[in-house]
Amino acid sequence: MDAAATPARIGTMALYRRLLGFSKAYWPIALVALAGMLMEAAAAGAFTWLMQPLIDGTFVNHDTRVVRWLPAVIVAIFVLRGIATFTADVAMARIGRGVVRDMRDRLIEKSLRMPSGWFDREAPAAQISRLTYNTEQLAYAAAEAVKIVLTDALTILFLLGVMLHNSVKLTVTMFFMVPLIALIVGTVGKRYRRINTTLQDAFAQFSHRAEQALAGQEAIKIYGAQPVERARIAELAQRNYRLNLKVIATQAMSSSLVQLLAACALAAIVYVAGREAVRDGMTAGSFMALVSAMMAMLPSLKKITNVQSMIQRGIAASESVFAVLDAEAERDDGQTRIERARGELQFEDVTFAYAGGKGWALDGVRFRVAPGTTTAIVGRSGSGKSTLAKLLPRFYEPGSGRILLDGVALADYRLADLRRQIAVVSQNVVLFDDSIAANIAFGELAGASRDAVEAAARAANALEFIEKLPQGFDTRIGDRGVLLSGGQRQRIAIARAILKNAPILILDEATSALDTESERLIQEALDRILAERTAIVIAHRLSTIEHADQVVVLDAGRVVETGTHAELIARDGAYARLHRLQFRDSEDAG
Ligand SMILES: Nc1ncnc2c1ncn2[C@@H]1O[C@H](COP(=O)(O)OP(=O)(O)OP(=O)(O)O)[C@@H](O)[C@H]1O
Ligand SMILES: [Mg+2]
Repeated sequence: MDAAATPARIGTMALYRRLLGFSKAYWPIALVALAGMLMEAAAAGAFTWLMQPLIDGTFVNHDTRVVRWLPAVIVAIFVLRGIATFTADVAMARIGRGVVRDMRDRLIEKSLRMPSGWFDREAPAAQISRLTYNTEQLAYAAAEAVKIVLTDALTILFLLGVMLHNSVKLTVTMFFMVPLIALIVGTVGKRYRRINTTLQDAFAQFSHRAEQALAGQEAIKIYGAQPVERARIAELAQRNYRLNLKVIATQAMSSSLVQLLAACALAAIVYVAGREAVRDGMTAGSFMALVSAMMAMLPSLKKITNVQSMIQRGIAASESVFAVLDAEAERDDGQTRIERARGELQFEDVTFAYAGGKGWALDGVRFRVAPGTTTAIVGRSGSGKSTLAKLLPRFYEPGSGRILLDGVALADYRLADLRRQIAVVSQNVVLFDDSIAANIAFGELAGASRDAVEAAARAANALEFIEKLPQGFDTRIGDRGVLLSGGQRQRIAIARAILKNAPILILDEATSALDTESERLIQEALDRILAERTAIVIAHRLSTIEHADQVVVLDAGRVVETGTHAELIARDGAYARLHRLQFRDSEDAG
């Protein structure tokens, strides 16, 4: 087997070694488990060993002492065995379940550090199945399989010991017989399965043809096709008949053959055993002990041969888990610390392409945002506005060019520091199945006082609807906030961003799900907040854009114009065109 150490096999071995490495931390429990397994196997051996005194002492020699101690010993063996099984099972479960828990913990920890591009490639369902199903499979291979291999190998060893102790010759004879029978049974079984499949196919053909003929009886009649159809179907029926006979013959032959073989094996065993009995005085008890040890060994042999597939499944499952653990996480090697940024932003020829996308999502983007000002980003759908916003917290890294905050490249800041500077209300609001208060005071904001949370909610125009909810701020909002309307969710997200009080605020169509009235109310609050910080606002609302300090117009990932609303209208270029198309309605309405 080792000769077949192909590269694939070596890879598999390495994977399995790595998998077992996760159990290594549990070595003290593993020692306890091993002791349990050893005792379990020894008990199985001891019980079959007892067969000899049981039969010879009681039934053959009528020894009263044996009659007295033997029952007690039998009970004692099973008490010990019970304790051993319990110890081994529970100890191994602690290792197995422990490995599952550790893996899940590592996976989640790693996943939450992966860049957004990774999430674009990995379907959520695949991630969940890796986290649940794969970790489970992998633990089987890392713990359960080890337990089976050890316990059953030890059991086989003990039983073999009992067999050899009783008769070496007989043991050897049996070990020749068993594989021989297994081989023949296996070959016959294979032939039987093959014929059976052919039979099923033939039967399917027959019924298909017959069904067609019966359904098309009128056509058959009018074209006089009865003889041809009949002959065809009869041929298929005949084939069926022949195959059926073949199956029965194989079956009958194989069972007779197996019986004959078993009889031959038994004859050989009886012959050897008889000679042993005559020549070396082998007793009835010895023979029984030997046979029961042999029988007791079969389940263990079966389990050991099956454990291979369990390990294979575990290794396959571990591959995708290790792929995540080994994948490159978000880069976080910047050293610059920052408390509170002034908020100057510079885009220097930034290009970006999504891994799965075609072409550039951003192409040579260059503009500057002065501290404390508001920049509106406008452009048609798909022009790259959201992409631009996602580069700021480094969800994605630019392909080339750089973005500077206060004159320092984003990549040079410590990632957590950088992200602390930015509050985002994105196009897709994500809320968690928790209370309203917990959703507003989220993450590092968790320590915020109830007063602060309320003030943020008020500023986001959310207080009114929150107070109408059954438990106010303590109302749970359901999975991803399903119990709230789109506009309510958006206001919670705005409250969260207000509470964060970061120097940079990114609003990606933050008020798009609101009615005009609510939007106007929030806009007032937002205007107050925007006044004090640097803001990147992706908006469809004219008033926001008009009041912005500058407008950046994107088209197909390129900055086509920058300037104030008035300047761009006067220039009568892309913005003016966009403005005429996009804002005419809202202008009329406003
Ligand atoms: N995760 C992604 N993977 C691949 N391509 C993407 C991804 N997200 C966006 N894109 C593509 O990048 C381009 C820019 O998308 P972006 O979301 O930045 O547009 P947008 O200007 O925000 O549009 P909208 O106004 O509709 O929100 C689009 O062509 C889009 O198809
Ligand atoms: Mg967008």
